[in-house]
Amino acid sequence: MADLVRFGVAMERPLLDRFDQMVERRGYDNRSEALRDLVRRELDQDAWQRGQLTVATITLVYDHHVRELTERLTEIQHDSGSLILSTLHVHLDHHHCLEVIAAKGSARLLKTLAERLLGTKGVLSGNVVAAALPPSSH
Ligand code: NI
Repeated sequence: MADLVRFGVAMERPLLDRFDQMVERRGYDNRSEALRDLVRRELDQDAWQRGQLTVATITLVYDHHVRELTERLTEIQHDSGSLILSTLHVHLDHHHCLEVIAAKGSARLLKTLAERLLGTKGVLSGNVVAAALPPSSH
């Protein structure tokens, strides 16, 4: 881990009280640890919004009996070949499939890919979780 730097933060008492309650609920040892996690999450979000290089998982649940849906989803993934690192497919029950797609690339391209997949008619639910890549893994 890099060296820790101390800095002062001024905050309204009610806001700090709420923060402390959350720190306790989530089981952090101290405020600093909680604050570091918040900052990391916000930086991930910022990298995603600015279209920087990110990794993301795209999760889809769909009914594979919907006509040509599986083919359409596969085609979209083939079109974005170099973005996709790996795909996990689970046959949930007689009708439903769960697909988790791990992808790496510019946030702009990953967003487009996710929107195409999640927007495909017949996809029942899903979401995208993105994380900024640390500089060493670029
Ligand atoms: Ni399946």
